[in-house]
Amino acid sequence: MTAGKDRQVIVVADAAAIAQTAATRLLDRLKQAKDRAAVCLTGGSSPEGLYRLLAEEPWRSEVPWDRVHWFMGDDRFVPESDPLSNMGMARRLFLDRVKAPRGNVHPIPDDTNYVDAAAKFYAEDVMQFYGAAQLDPARPLFDLVLMGLGADGHTASLFPHSPALEETQRRVIGVAKAGMEPFVPRVTMTFPTLASTREMLFLVDGASKRDVVRRVFAGEDLPAARAYAEGELVWLLDRAAAPEEPHAR
Ligand code: 6PG
Repeated sequence: MTAGKDRQVIVVADAAAIAQTAATRLLDRLKQAKDRAAVCLTGGSSPEGLYRLLAEEPWRSEVPWDRVHWFMGDDRFVPESDPLSNMGMARRLFLDRVKAPRGNVHPIPDDTNYVDAAAKFYAEDVMQFYGAAQLDPARPLFDLVLMGLGADGHTASLFPHSPALEETQRRVIGVAKAGMEPFVPRVTMTFPTLASTREMLFLVDGASKRDVVRRVFAGEDLPAARAYAEGELVWLLDRAAAPEEPHAR
C-alpha cells in the first residue's frame, strides 16, 4: 500500500496543463503495457480536458485504441443518455469520437433495478477481464486509474463516514445515497479494486479544491486520503488547487 509519504505531487499551471500532463502519462502507461491495457476513468469535470484531448491529434493517433480497455471507477445510476452519466460523458468527449471498439468499453450496467445488482455484474465484468478470482498485487488490474476529489474529500463515490470506505471483500458496491450532489444512487469500485493499478492519478484543479487538498495532504481522515495504489500514487494539481507555494512546470 502506498502511504501518504509515497504520494507524488505534480503542480502545473492550469487545467489545460493538467490535461496535457495527464495525456502524456496515460500514453506512457499504454506504451509500457505489453499486450492489452486497462484504464479506469473517472467522472466529474476534472477529467473533461483530458478526454477532449484524447479525441484530438496528436493523441488520437498515438493511442492504440484496439488494445485499450476503458472502465469507470464510479458512476451515477442513470441511463448513459442522461447528462449525469460519467460513461455517457466519456463516450461523448472521446470514446465515440475515436470509435473505440465496442467491446473495449466497459460501462457500469444501468439496466438493472438495483445498484447492488449493477455492482455485482460490474464486479464480474472486471474480474472476467482480469482472468482470475483474486487480484494479485504483482499483476495489477489497471495500468492507470484516474481519480477526482470532491470538496468534501470524497473520491469515486466513496463518501466521508460511509461504511463503503472499509470494504475489503467486494470489488464494486452500490451506494444508495450519495453524500454530495448530484444526489442520485451510485455504483463505485472499492479502494482495493482501485488500488490494483500501476498508477493512480488524481486530477484536481481550481481554487475551490485548495482547502480540501490541504486537508488531505495534512493527513486528515478523508476518503481521498485513504486512496492507495499498488504502483505509483500521483496527485496532479493546478496552481489554483495547490495548497502551498506553487512550482508550476
Ligand atoms: C462523480 C465522480 C466524483 C468526482 C468528484 C470531483 O461521479 O461525481 O467520480 O468522485 O470525481 O466529485 O468532481 P469534479 O471534478 O466535478 O470536481
